[in-house]
Amino acid sequence: MSIAESIESINTLAGNVSGLKGNERQDLLQACEKLRDKLEKPSDTIVRLAFSGHQLVVLRLAADLKLFDVMALEAGQSLDGSVNLHALAEKTPAEPLLLTRIMRFLAAMGAVHEIRPQVYSPAPLAADLVSSSPLSAALIHCTHFMSVLSKLPEYFNEKGWKSPHDAHDGPFQFALGSSQHYFEFLSSNPYYGQAFNTVMAMPFRRRGKNWFEFYPAAERLLVSSAGEDLRMFHERFPDLPGKLVLQDLAPVIDSATALPERIESQSYDFFQEQPIKHAKAYFMRTVLHDWPDQQAEKILRRVCDAMGPNSVLLINELILPEAGVLLSSALGDIQMMGSFASLERTEAQWKQLLQNAGLELVHVWLPQDCEKTPEALANQAAVFEARRRYG
Ligand SMILES: C[S@@+](CC[C@H](N)C(=O)[O-])C[C@H]1O[C@@H](n2cnc3c(N)ncnc32)[C@H](O)[C@@H]1O
Repeated sequence: MSIAESIESINTLAGNVSGLKGNERQDLLQACEKLRDKLEKPSDTIVRLAFSGHQLVVLRLAADLKLFDVMALEAGQSLDGSVNLHALAEKTPAEPLLLTRIMRFLAAMGAVHEIRPQVYSPAPLAADLVSSSPLSAALIHCTHFMSVLSKLPEYFNEKGWKSPHDAHDGPFQFALGSSQHYFEFLSSNPYYGQAFNTVMAMPFRRRGKNWFEFYPAAERLLVSSAGEDLRMFHERFPDLPGKLVLQDLAPVIDSATALPERIESQSYDFFQEQPIKHAKAYFMRTVLHDWPDQQAEKILRRVCDAMGPNSVLLINELILPEAGVLLSSALGDIQMMGSFASLERTEAQWKQLLQNAGLELVHVWLPQDCEKTPEALANQAAVFEARRRYG
């Protein structure tokens, strides 16, 4: 096929994507990204990356102005589904000139359709960014994080080129000029706290199989394992005897109102003595990756001190491969560095952390069909089973 024919067939496809089935959309996207990576010159890549932040921030400005909500409402009420700049200016606090510039940008990036000068209709992206949507929460969360990211060069220049190691004195505190831990910041800033919680509940955080689908819980836990996890675990094993206790900080426990009767809740700070001694299992999912070793070890020591000879600790977290880490996993690691001064860990790092806290790694559980390739590990969290080390 000649290049001209290839271009023609790509353009034909671009006009005809609505009927794609199954994985076709995802497969095509991957093929296009591969093609783009091969075609781009380094200068193209830098220009694309350098200006992607602008797009994210203009979307965020529109979200803060509730422009997408106003557009959805006004367009829904007009005969041709359009809304004009005058109507938008009346319903938002932005002056018309600023609004013109924002709308011009949104139209240029395809978030809205510009029907004629100063008359618009929402494109799918605008429709999906109304304030109640999880995507809007993700946008707020990600753009806020950019203030931390952009300060990383200054952070390392000033603090020395070391991997951050203190959750109370890391890139987040440096960027915001504050001593608050990220979780304290989130609880004192409901706008960002709500966005964070929404992102935490998004389905992408539950890729792969649930831990109890491959960890032999019925066999190894005669009694067992927070919030959503404990609820799902209880649904899967309703007859497993023993108590199920959900522990978290008081505001989280106060908001966990719809728990099944079998699940008790208890507010607890995991830097303090663990009140439940000798439980059959202590379970933590995506908790320890929020903490650098300095604090993670303290949390683990509290668990270790409460464990008996028959207790197990189950940690449900991603494993970072030693090499070939996918960009999505490496992004997650830098996100952890910026927000929490923490990190995603390799299997060796998990093992060392457990050992430093007086624990012994017994087994790393993954679904039987999950090979330890970078692709598989990016999409499947493992279960680390550990016991207290005696002697
Ligand atoms: C990333 S979330 C993970 C929640 C849940 N396990 C999941 O996977 O969706 C981290 C959790 O740790 C809790 N947390 C943070 N600091 C804590 C502390 N000092 N004591 C107990 N829980 C804490 C937060 O409230 C939050 O629920």
